[in-house]
Amino acid sequence: MKVEIKKSPLENLNSDALIVFVAQRPEGKNSTTKKPAAANGKEHAAKKGADKEVKKESRAYVEGVSKAVQAKIQTAIDDGSLSGGANEVMFFRDAGIAGSRHLLTVGLGNPKGLDNESLRQAMAVAINALKGSKAKSAALGLDSLPHTSLGANVIVQAITEGALLAEYAFVDFKEKKDLNTPERLTIVSSSKAKAHDHGIETGTTIAECVNFCRWLGDRPGNRMTPAILAEETVKAAKGTKLKINVWDRARIKDEKMGSFLSVSLGSSQEPKFIVMEYNGASAGKKPICYVGKGLTFDSGGISIKPSAGMEEMKYDMCGGAAVIATMIAIAKLKLKVNAIAYIPATENMPGPAANKPGDIVVARNGKTIEVNNTDAEGRLILADALVYACEQEPALIVDAATLTGAMVVALGNLHTGFFTRNDKLAASIQDAADAGGEWVWRMPLTDLHAKDMKGTYADLSNLSGSKGAGSATAAAFLESFVKKEIPWAHFDVAGTAWHVGDRLPYCARKGASGAMVRTFVQLAMSHA
Ligand code: BES
Ligand code: ZN
Ligand code: ZN
Repeated sequence: MKVEIKKSPLENLNSDALIVFVAQRPEGKNSTTKKPAAANGKEHAAKKGADKEVKKESRAYVEGVSKAVQAKIQTAIDDGSLSGGANEVMFFRDAGIAGSRHLLTVGLGNPKGLDNESLRQAMAVAINALKGSKAKSAALGLDSLPHTSLGANVIVQAITEGALLAEYAFVDFKEKKDLNTPERLTIVSSSKAKAHDHGIETGTTIAECVNFCRWLGDRPGNRMTPAILAEETVKAAKGTKLKINVWDRARIKDEKMGSFLSVSLGSSQEPKFIVMEYNGASAGKKPICYVGKGLTFDSGGISIKPSAGMEEMKYDMCGGAAVIATMIAIAKLKLKVNAIAYIPATENMPGPAANKPGDIVVARNGKTIEVNNTDAEGRLILADALVYACEQEPALIVDAATLTGAMVVALGNLHTGFFTRNDKLAASIQDAADAGGEWVWRMPLTDLHAKDMKGTYADLSNLSGSKGAGSATAAAFLESFVKKEIPWAHFDVAGTAWHVGDRLPYCARKGASGAMVRTFVQLAMSHA
């Protein structure tokens, strides 16, 4: 879908479907204080007798559209079928209005609470509703958006993101690849400014990168091996200023990444260490550093997982995919930052040379680790990546990983749990998530969690010695590979990286979500 902006009266369009926002008047105010301009006098006269009812039913309102469109919508408001509630849609097929064949309304709720996420969701709901309509082109009447304090660029960016995110479907292996969505979305406004173009550009880049992250995650394990992940990263970075380096097994061994390497031993697929570098600021400016778990399939290894649901472990590289997509977005948006990223990529399989419970491996910093459960492999591959990241002396490090099942139990599929002991970093993460429209929740990380990860025969164990708090103890394990002076945060995306479509209309019901790309891009923006 191509998103564009046009300054035009809605009547002059030639579009298959016109999308219009309907809002709700706050409680206590009703239609008697501000009657819709297009209200058909006769209709209202006829309803005078039922005055009480009219007041109650007229809480929904529409503005910034032609009288004909307004009258059409008013009928539905008057008969009580349209309330203007958030994400409510009504499709008027062959609506008989000038400029568009069909009319679609989408509810915003009380405009007082309107933010960019409500716009993103409303737009996604609208695009989803058009999926069965065969509409090839859609227009959005931007003037129907009630006045808000949001800037024009923020509004248009959210609208663009909502539309493009809702369009995504994983159809690579389907005979019928039709996405069933309009090919073009024209945002129609009575005024046009540079901010609108900027909003479309930013929104398109971010949504495309989130969709790329989803696509990497949705590919099955046999079509998304470490080598393929690296190749696709190189391909996606073409034409940008990104420098990509891919280390093979020999280089990983030379670099003394014994912990990472040990996880790959049970697989026939060669591990890869993907290095991404972007220089958008002066050489003296310390980079922001991203690290992502690129486990392209997690069978659990010798501590093998139960077969029910094991197919979902193709998503175990979603943290890595989020980091890759973030770097592509940073480069495409030409942000004035320096950024680096490391993605250790491997399978976790129970082949003959696989890690065995009790094995001891040595990480890049010389720390020894008892592998007491081969299914706790994410922390083993991230340990070496974090040590390497710290050696680059970045301004801060954030990592993303589908690290623990315990995270899914703790927070479910809406909030991504993050762990940091740095309050300043925690505050900027919260701001970035708010701006990006994602939900994060700070989780505890203490010395007691770290104590649980001490080994019996080695420095550390990859399995906690205590019950419960599995996500926090995993975070504490990672922390022991990070230099104290470097601000660091760990994001456990186990609950949010896939199957979140039951909560968010711009995510496929099943499939990867692209979680944390928007937040990570915002973090880079605030670092610029
Ligand atoms: N990739 C899994 C974590 C996971 C599980 C993500 C379910 C999403 C859904 C990770 O490698 C793993 O298996 N972790 C173990 C650790 C345990 C053995 C300490 C877990 O959480 O069960
Ligand atoms: Zn595992
Ligand atoms: Zn895993």
